[in-house]
Amino acid sequence: MNSFPHQVRIVEVGPRDGLQNEKTPLSTADKIVLVERLAGCGLPVVETGSFVSPRWVPQMADSAEVFSGIERASGVRYSALTPNMKGFEAALKAGADEVAVFAAASETFSQKNINCSIDESLQRFTPVMAAAAQAGIPVRGYVSCVVACPYEGAIAAPAVLSVSQKLTDMGCYEISLGDTIGAGTAGDIKRLLDVMLRSYAVNDLAMHCHDTYGQALTNIYAALEQGLACFDSSVAGLGGCPYATGATGNVATEDVIYLMNGLGIETGVDLDLLIETGNWISDKLQRRTNSRVGNARMPAPHIDA
Ligand code: HMG
Ligand code: MG
Repeated sequence: MNSFPHQVRIVEVGPRDGLQNEKTPLSTADKIVLVERLAGCGLPVVETGSFVSPRWVPQMADSAEVFSGIERASGVRYSALTPNMKGFEAALKAGADEVAVFAAASETFSQKNINCSIDESLQRFTPVMAAAAQAGIPVRGYVSCVVACPYEGAIAAPAVLSVSQKLTDMGCYEISLGDTIGAGTAGDIKRLLDVMLRSYAVNDLAMHCHDTYGQALTNIYAALEQGLACFDSSVAGLGGCPYATGATGNVATEDVIYLMNGLGIETGVDLDLLIETGNWISDKLQRRTNSRVGNARMPAPHIDA
């Protein structure tokens, strides 16, 4: 017997985590269409952009234009990544419904990703949390490198718990546990969640799996077995992490939805529309989709007799 949830929430991170690391530039107009199509698939949260330094992540430089260009669907939350007050103010001005702050369980990754220590990053988040509370904006907390760090190797679960608790104490409504380099296995996820769930309710945690080692769906299944009901994923498995060499994209949303459909777990997402969207964005980026389901459903090439 397991305690699978009846319903899960999918946080679509393709327009942010996906596009931030794609080599082929995508026009602002196409980003807007992507966000609108994803919302049209029934995804409840679309991470629409990121208000970080354009020198650090040039692909996200037009996030304000993306936010202002989208036609919003009712019931969908359009979120943004914000590393500091400058980012939060820009996200607020752009009309983000929700923001996310991001810390790491590894000191070296924190330095490489946001140019400061874990403690300094938390200090930068303090005014963000206060301003967000005043504006009535929910704040999600990401923790990167929850299994392994590209620079420090294996990361111990207590380090993940420690930074997560600090983010929760500051007011983050949910902690998204990032296997940033996609190296974790189901065993790692189980051991991590065994520690996390001593202090957290299942509904206060999400899993954010990258698929570098092909373990993401298995890891999501392991998290489902422990009752987690929120998963981040990226249409077509777009992207990677600019500060984690070799990390591939997030697990493909299409593949997660296919898994949930097979398990009879509700997501509210239309798989056919999502596959079309994944194949459309892959064409725009001139690359093959990283979704196994998207590939399997690719129309067969027409061959003249
Ligand atoms: P810094 O250089 O230490 O910051 O960067 P600074 O405060 O000294 O500012 C330097 C310059 O950046 C200044 O401009 C600031 O105005 C500007 P200048 O005077 O030189 O022209 N600046 C900004 N510009 C726009 N928006 C801002 C902002 N803040 C400062 N918010 C900083 C620190 C955090 C800004 C930088 O390191 C940065 O932008 N890093 C981005 C890192 C990033 O986006 N990484 C990818 C996302 S995290 C991720 O993918 C992991 C996740 O998916 C979970 C997982 O998989 O594990 C979430
Ligand atoms: Mg990520």
